[in-house]
Amino acid sequence: MKQLILLFAFSFLFIKCNSSNIKEKNIGLIAQKAMVVSAKIEASQIGAEILKKGGNAYDAMIATHFALAVAYPVAGNIGGGGFMVYRNNDGTKGALDFREKAPITAHKDMYLDGAGNVIKNKSTVGAHAVGVPGSVAGAFEVYEKFGSLPFKELIQPAIDLARNGFKITKKQAASLNKAAAKFKKVNTYKTLFEAEWKEGSLLKQEELAQTLERIRDFGSAGFYEGKTAELFVNYVAQLGGIISREDLQKYTAIWRKPITFKYKDYQITSMTLPASGGICLAQILKSITPYNISEIKHNSTKYIQLLTEASRRSYADRAHFLGDIDFVNVPIDSLTATDYINQRMDNFSWDKATPSSEVSHGKVLGYESDETTHYSIIDQFGNAVSVTTTLNTGYGSKVVVKGAGFILNNEMDDFSSKPGVPNVYGLVGSKANAIAPEKRMLSSMTPTIVEKNGKLKMVLGTPGGSTIITSVLQNILNIAEYDMGMQESVDQPRFHHQWLPDVIRMEPGGFNSETKTELKALGYTLYEKKALVIGKVDAILVLPNGSLEGGADARGDDAAVGF
Ligand code: GLY
Repeated sequence: MKQLILLFAFSFLFIKCNSSNIKEKNIGLIAQKAMVVSAKIEASQIGAEILKKGGNAYDAMIATHFALAVAYPVAGNIGGGGFMVYRNNDGTKGALDFREKAPITAHKDMYLDGAGNVIKNKSTVGAHAVGVPGSVAGAFEVYEKFGSLPFKELIQPAIDLARNGFKITKKQAASLNKAAAKFKKVNTYKTLFEAEWKEGSLLKQEELAQTLERIRDFGSAGFYEGKTAELFVNYVAQLGGIISREDLQKYTAIWRKPITFKYKDYQITSMTLPASGGICLAQILKSITPYNISEIKHNSTKYIQLLTEASRRSYADRAHFLGDIDFVNVPIDSLTATDYINQRMDNFSWDKATPSSEVSHGKVLGYESDETTHYSIIDQFGNAVSVTTTLNTGYGSKVVVKGAGFILNNEMDDFSSKPGVPNVYGLVGSKANAIAPEKRMLSSMTPTIVEKNGKLKMVLGTPGGSTIITSVLQNILNIAEYDMGMQESVDQPRFHHQWLPDVIRMEPGGFNSETKTELKALGYTLYEKKALVIGKVDAILVLPNGSLEGGADARGDDAAVGF
């Protein structure tokens, strides 16, 4: 196993990058007081330095977020959005929604042709795919409520990183080279992302540095108004998009009440709508609560079967019921009620798969490249922050705002363009997730915090589109049922089922042939594509002695830094 554990002599930060071998039982970085785990070492270091200076988890969140927008352009962003779940050291919890919104002039059929068919790529590539970004508003909302250090100290490291550049990794070089043709096709000028990238190439982003300086100097208005807004709106209009100055000015992030529920001895807090993660996680964990999971072998036929059947039923409900809570009435309490869940699992049988064609949404009583990125932070005061943020697919719409250097999301594809027609993740939707002006598109993001006996136990989340929910689920079970360490848990092979398509996706090489044969005999269709990755989980576990163990996903370049 090749692993890197360095004492960062200057600042006394411990650093651990991911390992390239995900099968060994690794122990993650252990830190005594505080930790940041994110998709890039530069961002984890910047966040941890802020903590070391006396900043809190929220200060570190802001610094890490802007650093990822520079060092991890595939998903880190200021042109996208996301969600944060937090737990303060006094046990108070909350959630922030900085999800993108549909533009004011958006309409239900905007991705359909005259015959009512979905126009290929219109919701995924180019200016039409862009939702009104929420990340910068989110950062300021967090800062106003919880920030402690001067804002300019939080954003300056990202500005310096953009201006001075950073060395890209092998994985980043491959990813950027793969996306080059799309950047070229979408933009009217040669963006700086179109180059012959090699591991170690320096990526400098001067225009992005200047945009970040405007945010530093003018606050939220440095993004949603003034020069940045002008460059944004003009370029989007030039490419045929519909986002206006009014869209940008009207954007607000929203504090929401997270979904909180019990799973055996654990209290789980996760994101609510417009993120589906918390509701689906509650449904799936409640569906399997009657079973003695720890007695079922990890990743065995029975384990995969049970989680698959619970997920199948939950994703069917997701497709029918879930959408932006500010626009549609979603029966959250009914959907997560134990009686309802038990009744949904009534027809589960160990003897054969339940075909998705026989599973629809339930009847509830009352009404109420898959690239995203996640970072987890625990500070030296005991506050915890779990943030998942995205441009949607890798590099979002591929639109790079001319003169401003940032990439715009393609989050509009997370709406249901037409009922029953799958989006880029194969997810289908219904009227609940139809496009409407200023509505937020349904997300699978699942930033989550786990407590045990009233104490902080784990902070976790992941990218991965529709597979986010099942990746978070499996990591919770790894800790709660199988007593794994954090890195050991993150390293485990993962599988995924989402109702439609009716297949179990499995990470190649992670499951033995006997299990696969048994699953097939029970009627399951398996899908094991070469190099298929399910989630990139970045998590922190509080160990019984109070120290912290990081789990940085080896599927990416992820890294834990702490002290
Ligand atoms: N864009 C992926 C998600 O929000 O689920």
